[in-house]
Amino acid sequence: SRAQSLSGKRILVTAGPTYEPIDPVRFIGNRSSGKMGIAIADELCARGAAVHLILGPSALSPGKAGVEVIRVGTAREMHEAATTLFGRCDAAVLAAAVADYRPAKVAEQKIKKSGDEMQVSMVKNPDIAASLGQSKTIHQKLVGFALETQNGLENAQSKLEHKNLDLIVLNSLTDSGAGFNHDTNKITILDRGNKKREFELKTKAAVAVDIVDALQELWG
Ligand code: C5P
Repeated sequence: SRAQSLSGKRILVTAGPTYEPIDPVRFIGNRSSGKMGIAIADELCARGAAVHLILGPSALSPGKAGVEVIRVGTAREMHEAATTLFGRCDAAVLAAAVADYRPAKVAEQKIKKSGDEMQVSMVKNPDIAASLGQSKTIHQKLVGFALETQNGLENAQSKLEHKNLDLIVLNSLTDSGAGFNHDTNKITILDRGNKKREFELKTKAAVAVDIVDALQELWG
């Protein structure tokens, strides 16, 4: 973690969950805390990068005052903020747990309790990683994440290619202490040259150092 080694670089980070409203008081969300992405934003800032953190509904905030935080609620808001900013950035690290689907329509009034069953019809959200992957120039780098419950390496490899990422970080779910709401994580980083780097369980701050080292290596 060399100080100022990223000065002159502008980097976008997404973090946290998204909340997809059903009605004025309810939403569909997920258990992401935002910790991993916030740790990455802090590490990038510590190395002198200009950091834009697009943060979903998380109780947490970055530790470094230099990180510019853009708060969003839904996947569509996150997508809009990310596509607007990415053109000016040298890289994006997409750590957010974006909802794949949202309710097809948001009820204007609170939905009243009635029958024994109720259905919520869902439509697909935009894939931010895939959008940025499509617009990416040769000078821009993209880092994504994969959280899988089965066939982790194969699924991560396939996302790396289909979303046109430069690196993908596979989160282990089988190790205790890794993943959502923990202060520790255990990752494997895959690149486009079939290189696979496996790391030990460590604090999210230390994991962020490994991820930012790998990103920085792409620039040589
Ligand atoms: O396809 P999947 O959700 O597993 O891909 C995970 C990666 O793609 C993460 O980097 C996540 O932040 C990103 N993603 C995104 N927009 C979505 C879905 C996932 O940026 N709608």
